[in-house]
Amino acid sequence: MANKIAVLSQKGGTGKTTAVRTLTDVLRLAGLKVLAVDLDPQGNLSDYFDVDPEAEPTIGDVLAGRASAKQAIHGDVMPANLSLAEAELQLAGKMGRELTLRKALREVEGPYDIVLIDCPPALGLLTVNALVAADHALLSAEAQYFAMQGVEQALEVIELARDGLNPDLDWLGVFFNIADMRTVHSREAYASLREHLGEDKVFSTTIRSSIAYAGSAERAVSILEYRPDLGADYLLLADELLRRLGLSAARRRLTPHLPDPPAAVAAG
Ligand SMILES: Nc1ncnc2c1ncn2[C@@H]1O[C@H](COP(=O)(O)OP(=O)(O)O)[C@@H](O)[C@H]1O
Ligand SMILES: [Mg+2]
Repeated sequence: MANKIAVLSQKGGTGKTTAVRTLTDVLRLAGLKVLAVDLDPQGNLSDYFDVDPEAEPTIGDVLAGRASAKQAIHGDVMPANLSLAEAELQLAGKMGRELTLRKALREVEGPYDIVLIDCPPALGLLTVNALVAADHALLSAEAQYFAMQGVEQALEVIELARDGLNPDLDWLGVFFNIADMRTVHSREAYASLREHLGEDKVFSTTIRSSIAYAGSAERAVSILEYRPDLGADYLLLADELLRRLGLSAARRRLTPHLPDPPAAVAAG
């Protein structure tokens, strides 16, 4: 069975989809077979992976019962488009509406080591489907004062999934995204997260903010290739993620790709 990870945040624009795209790239680099699932009707993840916009069927068809999950996989990506918004509305009136994604993924997860699910930027039925289907939840938080508030709301939804349909759902923690740790503002917000959630629930790696991400997204080229110096953040984030997942063999395979520790810089 695959490790299924729902990546969520309480709102849009926190760099979550970029994180799912890039973590997929890094985990593949570590020799893992990864399925990336786009669960956002905006289809940003599908765009970042440059999936043909005409590709059919998509996850919307799967959730609406028009296609099997297997048919909706295109090059290890399960893409989404606006039909997913319609599927969500239809789903709302059905029995077992929270279980639909879980059932669909069961059919296809076998050959995969990891399934990453990119949730939409709202804590509605689609996100609940992701949390019920997942083994783990991972939060992306924007690096600003209100980060804690967003994390708390997301944690409430995780609690709901745990109390109800997925008691074994594990919370991997939260990582700080689009961060400029040179500012007091970001450092304070980060310290506050650590204080409230405990140090083990806040990833040590923060993803630096850079305008280069816009160019990377526009060209659908991974930041790992577009700007390897920035991509290093995601290598370190994935290393922490693999440690938390207990996937030590993959972690060892990733080690040669990791940036050198900044010891020399610190000394100088
Ligand atoms: N580390 C980063 N630094 C600066 N901009 C980023 C970073 N990561 C993502 N972005 C940009 O921010 C915008 C929102 O990112 P996206 O991953 O789509 O967020 P979300 O899925 O949370 O809405 C995009 O234009 C993306 O290119
Ligand atoms: Mg997104």
